[in-house]
Amino acid sequence: MAKLEAERKPLIAGNWKLNLDHLQSIAFVQKLAWSLKDARFDFSKVEVAIFPPFTDLRSVQSLIAADKFELTFGAQDVSAHDSGAFTGEISGQFLSALDCRYVIVGHSERRSFHFESNDLVGLKASAAIRNGLIPVICVGETAEDLETRGASAVPVEQLDTALAEVPSGSEIVVAYEPVWAIGSGQAASPEQAETVAGLLREVIASRLGSDCANATRILYGGSVKSGNIASFMREENIDGALVGGASLIIDEFVKIARFQNHVGV
Ligand code: PGA
Repeated sequence: MAKLEAERKPLIAGNWKLNLDHLQSIAFVQKLAWSLKDARFDFSKVEVAIFPPFTDLRSVQSLIAADKFELTFGAQDVSAHDSGAFTGEISGQFLSALDCRYVIVGHSERRSFHFESNDLVGLKASAAIRNGLIPVICVGETAEDLETRGASAVPVEQLDTALAEVPSGSEIVVAYEPVWAIGSGQAASPEQAETVAGLLREVIASRLGSDCANATRILYGGSVKSGNIASFMREENIDGALVGGASLIIDEFVKIARFQNHVGV
């Protein structure tokens, strides 16, 4: 079955993590936008989004608006609450006011270093949606999960719980990121990623309806680089990538975004 290209525009998303301050972000986004332009990048075919740290967002917003860059952007996390006595938290209302289109929720680094549960990830996804943001819901198994329960059990469970909080028909993005593949240089095989992505699409269908499942972009993440992106993008259920390390190297990120130019895609 051919991919429903028209319904699912590929998304190449760069997760900067804890890198680049607001001054560095300005130089970086300018260079990225120019490099894409030099490469005659067609934004009508592929969306390119960046996820800078919170303190960069205002600078990135102003630059993208002033120079009419076609890049989209989002934040790396959001509070489950919209306002109140929650020291250190960032509201979805604030992100929305900064023109963020997306927010990442449930990244494995939040789950492991900040003990975020599947329920909390669901509350964050729903906070994003009620504030007009598209949550990029991250799921994935650890090396231990892979050994004891296989590749799909944990991501399916994580997504199913998170979507319990999400109204049916909502626009979401799902990122399948095996924890053992993140930052390790060891990406999952395209076959494994495709199998899990297919099962995740079934979870979306049962929670949010089949139209929503067909329209939802499912990304693969974990050691994506220009040399392996094409093999993932060939898969039926994979509609893009969440890129960490390689999103900080402009030439490499541009090559990833231009996956359609790679031989055989
Ligand atoms: P990586 O990170 O591309 O450096 O493996 C991916 C991610 O954490 O989103």
